[in-house]
Amino acid sequence: MRFKVTIVGAGFVGATTAQRIFESGYADVVLIDIVEGKPQGVALDMLSSGPVIGTDAQIIGSNTYDESVNSDVVVITAGIHRKPGMSRDDLLMTNMNIVGSVTAEVAKRSPDAVLIIVSNPLDAMVQHAYRVSGFPKERVVGMAGILDTARFRTFLSQELKVSVTNVSAYVLGGHGDTMVPLIGSTTIGGVPVAQLIEASRLEEIVQRTRDGGAEIVGLLKTGSAFYAPATSAIEMAEAYLKDQKRVLPCAAYVDGAYGLDGFYVGVPTVIGAGGVERVVEIAMNKDEQSMFDNSVNAVKGLVDACKGIDESLK
Ligand code: NAI
Ligand code: 2OP
Repeated sequence: MRFKVTIVGAGFVGATTAQRIFESGYADVVLIDIVEGKPQGVALDMLSSGPVIGTDAQIIGSNTYDESVNSDVVVITAGIHRKPGMSRDDLLMTNMNIVGSVTAEVAKRSPDAVLIIVSNPLDAMVQHAYRVSGFPKERVVGMAGILDTARFRTFLSQELKVSVTNVSAYVLGGHGDTMVPLIGSTTIGGVPVAQLIEASRLEEIVQRTRDGGAEIVGLLKTGSAFYAPATSAIEMAEAYLKDQKRVLPCAAYVDGAYGLDGFYVGVPTVIGAGGVERVVEIAMNKDEQSMFDNSVNAVKGLVDACKGIDESLK
């Protein structure tokens, strides 16, 4: 028996996520979008690649939610993306309305699913989806930390000319300009990175990581990153579906750890059959703690702005 994964938003991130899951063969995919014909066309095209790849998995596109009933995982990528010069936060009001309505639709049809939120601004959107869905905190999680960490690991591996698999790192906090690459616990083959790269160069790499999304927006001009984001969302879905108990940095509801009480932000988590099974506390040095606090405050500002919009819409 295959799993069932629904992906809402058949744009760059959604279609890429759908393609990779469909091709891997362990889940049937339902792809939903508001634009008439788009998810159906994308899905039919992918389905027709099945005989070549050798997968019997199914993929179907729809403009409504009925096909999504009883999904194991729902990945929400619906929304608008950044244009050059826009910050992730500029997307707040539009995407809040979209993510809220999409979440309500999927939650009533798949009450036992894990929701993986991708739409930006991520930390505010996952908090909003948690509230709208009424799901337990273990089953609503945001994708950002895996992506930000992957960018950091990529740039470090390029700098040191070592395999990405030997670069161990975390980027925590909010998915925005205040994200926190933890230098103190970053190691290359077990060696602390600060012993291998001098501080000023390391700071440049940290800044490039923070600007990683904007760098791609600037190059693409008509869209934002989607290959690495799709891969990151899939890593989370697989960890849940296959009960892998992977330690993955994700936007999770933190209640107690890190001195936070009931708040979504990027932290290391364990993802397995129970969804977000736990939040892992990692030691931070004084500078990292202060950057993390700053990032939490930035996310709180966005969440408060969301609450304000919510009130004004009543
Ligand atoms: P895109 O514009 O290619 O796709 C978005 C899709 O959502 C479009 O096909 C659009 O028709 C659809 N859509 C809009 N309103 C909808 C609704 N009410 N119901 C169903 N579908 C709806 O954008 P892309 O590049 O796929 O990005 C999607 C979102 O993910 C953006 O908000 C982007 O900023 C965010 N993102 C977040 C990342 C992260 O690390 N958390 C990384 C990359 C993108
Ligand atoms: C990124 O980091 C746009 O948030 C997205 O690429």
